[in-house]
Amino acid sequence: MQRKEPEAASGWAPWKTGVVYQVYPRSFADTSGDGLGDLEGITRHLDHLAGSPDSLGVDAIWLSPINPSPGLDLGYDISDYASVDPQFGTEGDFDRLVAEAHRRGIKVILDLVVNHTSDAHAWFVASRSSRTGPYADRYLWSDPAGTDRAGGPVPPNNWVSFFGGSAWEWEPVRGQFYEHTFLAQQPDLNWRDPGTRADVKAMMRHWLARGVDGFRMDVFNAFLKDPQRRSNPIRRGRSAWTRQLHVHDKDQPDLPALLAELRAVVDEAPGRMTVGELFDGHASRAARLSAERHLVFDFELLQAGWSAAAIGRALDRREAAYGPDRWPTVVLSNHDQPRHVSRWGAGRDLDEIARASALLLLTMRGTPFLYYGEELGVPGVVIPNDVAIDPPARHSGPGFRWWNRDQARAPMPWTGEPGAGFTTGHPWLPLPPDWRTRNVAAQRADPSSVLAFYRALLALRRARPALHSGGLARVSTSTPGVLAFRRWTINDRALVVLNLGRRDLAAILRLEGPAGWRPALGTHGSNPPGIARNGRISLRALEGVVLVGTDVPPVR
Ligand code: GLC
Repeated sequence: MQRKEPEAASGWAPWKTGVVYQVYPRSFADTSGDGLGDLEGITRHLDHLAGSPDSLGVDAIWLSPINPSPGLDLGYDISDYASVDPQFGTEGDFDRLVAEAHRRGIKVILDLVVNHTSDAHAWFVASRSSRTGPYADRYLWSDPAGTDRAGGPVPPNNWVSFFGGSAWEWEPVRGQFYEHTFLAQQPDLNWRDPGTRADVKAMMRHWLARGVDGFRMDVFNAFLKDPQRRSNPIRRGRSAWTRQLHVHDKDQPDLPALLAELRAVVDEAPGRMTVGELFDGHASRAARLSAERHLVFDFELLQAGWSAAAIGRALDRREAAYGPDRWPTVVLSNHDQPRHVSRWGAGRDLDEIARASALLLLTMRGTPFLYYGEELGVPGVVIPNDVAIDPPARHSGPGFRWWNRDQARAPMPWTGEPGAGFTTGHPWLPLPPDWRTRNVAAQRADPSSVLAFYRALLALRRARPALHSGGLARVSTSTPGVLAFRRWTINDRALVVLNLGRRDLAAILRLEGPAGWRPALGTHGSNPPGIARNGRISLRALEGVVLVGTDVPPVR
């Protein structure tokens, strides 16, 4: 049985009703002048996020990895789980960040990257040097399947790396291959080794004891692989990765039991949570792996095209997958994907697409995850592969296609001053193209900015139980390009209507029950459109509106 949380008793359970903001530490704010963001930079900007009258109003931050790392996968290759990477600051800086966040009511989630370590981690250094000793089985070692014509060792099976090439790397000292889902410098841990489980659990307890409120579990459904190392079946596909059915190198039958063990560690500290990153899977799989206070990301919605039909289908699939008893997440952008305003905004006004997509993100059923900068409508930055920092992008070519993730990782623009208030030095990646005008200071001063809209929408969401914890049902309309849904709890109801098309239009919604909706917030200024008794509503291109029932208490 799950412990009942005090928050749940009062109706506010942050992991369900709250909003999480992803900080990419390298790119948030630099206080040392080295061009790379740091922990002190995050602490200094906490007021932007919550706790002061003009804050955005989020409930938690998720920090992409902050542990020591050779940086070959920008921190997703960890060489020491127990400490803070000195390039981000000191242990004291971290403890101060947690304390200052908590003082503002912001929870702190760390990235738990335990599918693999860096090859510089002491466990791997020991493991690769000998077939005996406490770390001998900590990674996935395999004998060769034979020798090739040149006398070289042949990998044990057909598994491939998501970052290109074989998943197997030869280690001459052991005379064996080790497996890696990502770079060869990111060897996969053996989760069937009791030492792995014990050491990772101890590490989780260490961070929980330091006040951390939860973990985002990197590619968590890949932790276990087939113990018999069977080759994956082949299928048609456009890349080496998609040409295999990944039935043996992830999603193993003993995964739920392993997750239960890790979640039990988190549950030892009341009110803590996890969110698992589903690697390569759909909403139905995500729903099956989710549990109370243990959320799962899936990227079906994120991968949908910008049309009412495509987003409507993604919405229907997730609602069917989760049903009334499970709770989804909503995510449109992160550090691995093209920023959604660029993905969806081609040929459209950036501010308009930013507002329209924010309306979806923050009114759908589920816990929303914002990605730093999206509250300003920051677009992607075009960075050619030949100058890429992102490792897979650097070897992208005809045999291996890769989208350069640097494009979504540009420094946060805080001001219009040189360095955008991000750094006094040379930023590690180019600033977003329009940082001189699209920055926090400028948007704070402008009541019609994207930032102002996010703030108003977050405030509305917090004030309306229907929006933060209600059910969801589609409202049908025969007008193409329009998406509409209702949200409700026993005492509250809201209606969301959005025109995703390029033309102004009038839609007729099939609303059941007594009409009576009052517009509460719209994307196009202070006078959002209302809805007539016959269900008619006029919307401009990319215009969206949240309406609330006239029989429920007024907003704010
Ligand atoms: C996850 C991370 C990504 C990283 C990969 C390997 O997908 O989000 O950034 O490259 O795992 O750790």
